Amino acid sequence: MQKLPKKLQARLTQRTQENALRKLPVSHNLIDFSSNDYLGFAKNEALYSNIFQLLLKKGIFQNGATGSRLLTGNHELYPILEEQLAIFHEEETALVFNSGYDANIGFFASVPQRGDVILYDEFIHASIRDGIKMSNAKGYKYKHNDLDDLADKFKIFNNQKLQDAEVYVVTESVFSMDGDTPELAALVAFSNANNCRLVVDEAHAIGIFGKNGQGLLHDLGLHRQVFARIITFGKAIGAHGAVILGSASLKEYLLNFARSIIYSTALSPHGVATVIAGYQFLQAQSGQTEMQLLQDNISYFNLRLEALSCQKEGLPLQTFFIPSSSAIHGCLVPGNKKVKSFAQKLSEEGFDVKAILSPTVPEGSERLRFCIHSYNSKEEIGLVLQLLSTYL
Ligand SMILES: Cc1ncc(COP(=O)(O)O)c(C=O)c1O
Repeated sequence: MQKLPKKLQARLTQRTQENALRKLPVSHNLIDFSSNDYLGFAKNEALYSNIFQLLLKKGIFQNGATGSRLLTGNHELYPILEEQLAIFHEEETALVFNSGYDANIGFFASVPQRGDVILYDEFIHASIRDGIKMSNAKGYKYKHNDLDDLADKFKIFNNQKLQDAEVYVVTESVFSMDGDTPELAALVAFSNANNCRLVVDEAHAIGIFGKNGQGLLHDLGLHRQVFARIITFGKAIGAHGAVILGSASLKEYLLNFARSIIYSTALSPHGVATVIAGYQFLQAQSGQTEMQLLQDNISYFNLRLEALSCQKEGLPLQTFFIPSSSAIHGCLVPGNKKVKSFAQKLSEEGFDVKAILSPTVPEGSERLRFCIHSYNSKEEIGLVLQLLSTYL
């Protein structure tokens, strides 16, 4: 076995010194305040059986996709899913990718062209950043959820760009680490007024917002006014994969130029069936029930934040949290060492709450990230926050 090159070993050592070394967690039976399975679909037995029924009904006895979607992997469940997605999300077309990561690198590496400008929120997901790095266009960040800063950056870079260059504005409708939301109506108005192409990642809004869980843009009636939406299936849908929603010509373009879909083996029939059944489950009474339970829990979580105070200084617990009406709630505990020790203490009490360390978030904004689920009980929520109030 060859040794790791010295430079790489040094990076690992530095990570360890910074208390930021990533490790695979061992599985446990702690109370879940950390997974993305907001509605419990990933472990739902009725849904599990629906998926098998679907495969049996279709007579599909195939394990793997056998190739890229452009070669042999475009099995019969793909068009069914894409049609279902286009109808549900009220969009002209849907193009399914293997993951949200693939969708974002595929989109951003291929759509913005040399000379184009990408203005992105500074807290945008790593998959979008990576896509922008792979792109020939220039990317510039604007301050988190700050429309004035976006307008300033737009003025600077719009004046510098060539005449036929495009400007893309990129945000998330629910930010993955903060759980907060930009002023989407204002972003749409800004983009329309300035001929920008707005792209919104709705990974953490699907299944949470909207009457049937279609996401936040749909809930606000803005979904038809963006250039593209990215929705992932690994969160509330409890499955795997992602979709880019947009025009028919955008779909055709991506199929021809987005390398992450062209050069990768497609999702298996079982994987696609899981998404089809997950969406059906979401639209049935089962989904409505889980979504309502989740909303109740989010409200209860926020009520407890208002009611509890931190024990040492008497400050309301709420003051430590980033305001959020989504399923993600961040409690700021600056310093990798400290936030890790809080997460450790909570795990010793039976709760799985993840410490989010720098460099995943900027130094000084390390946090405990609470993900709330439909299946958390009020007692669990009350207890975990009560404990936290004694540590702060
Ligand atoms: C906002 C956002 N976009 C994209 C992704 C990537 O999705 P996937 O896990 O399907 O690769 C994530 C996952 O964490 C995310 O939070």
